[in-house]
Amino acid sequence: MLELICPKCHEALTNLGQQWRCDNNHSYDQARQGYLNLLLVQHKNSRHPGDTPAMLACRQAFLDAGHYQPVSDAINGAFARLEPGAVLDMGCGEGYYTARLASALPETRIGGLDISKDAVVRATRRSRSLRWLVASSARLPVAGESLGGLLSVFSPWSWDECLRTLKPGGHLVLVGPHADHLRTLRAALYDEVHATPDLLKDQPVGMQVVSDETLRYPLHLTPDDLTNLIGMTPHSLRSAPDRQRSAVASGLPGLEVAMRLVILQRC
Ligand SMILES: C[S@@+](CC[C@H](N)C(=O)[O-])C[C@H]1O[C@@H](n2cnc3c(N)ncnc32)[C@H](O)[C@@H]1O
Repeated sequence: MLELICPKCHEALTNLGQQWRCDNNHSYDQARQGYLNLLLVQHKNSRHPGDTPAMLACRQAFLDAGHYQPVSDAINGAFARLEPGAVLDMGCGEGYYTARLASALPETRIGGLDISKDAVVRATRRSRSLRWLVASSARLPVAGESLGGLLSVFSPWSWDECLRTLKPGGHLVLVGPHADHLRTLRAALYDEVHATPDLLKDQPVGMQVVSDETLRYPLHLTPDDLTNLIGMTPHSLRSAPDRQRSAVASGLPGLEVAMRLVILQRC
């Protein structure tokens, strides 16, 4: 089990069947779907934070079609070598990478956390045996120095929280876009393709890069796949609908995945 803490007072949470409680008598009910909501109302930035149900449906369909399975396999391979003991997937979405990691490493204690309740409800359907949490990556509800591994795939994370929760020697695996990622799609949707932000911006003292690789491969997608790919990203909201339709109709030859997989170690 992950070592959960109370989001109000940060004392350890004890499991009492369907309820979790700390020594200060703050209690949290486990939802009937099996997840635990540790996101306090005052820490929500909107009524329904995180990805929308429509984005989640598109992402689940796209991921279940296997288009990013090589990325998931690379993540699983990295954690198999690192032997982290306990891993938390921050911004796990509908749980594709989390559940595949749990299947690949059955001895590892694995949890998935997302600020979107809709995402976490979907994730519970992938596996009932993982610890699924509604919470924010900005305030991880886990004890200090209790994790051997943290994962973020295209999701926000807090360097401070990574430093607090990782054991010394523990690892953070970050997956995010390389400048070439889906460039053909972005060029089809916008007049100007914006620069890709640096994944390691603001890297703190105390976290050292131990490996940095780029996963590259071509994507050959059907019109339905392309519709899901656009729908699962903010491109669906930011770009013009007619540009989206033309991109789908073109089939986007030359489309390429280019994701950075960076492993950092807490000193
Ligand atoms: C691009 S999706 C990636 C989901 C998943 N990692 C994947 O690659 O399939 C980003 C996810 O981060 C979640 N998210 C956004 N802000 C968050 C926060 N502060 N804490 C936790 N999750 C957050 C969203 O709800 C969404 O599910």
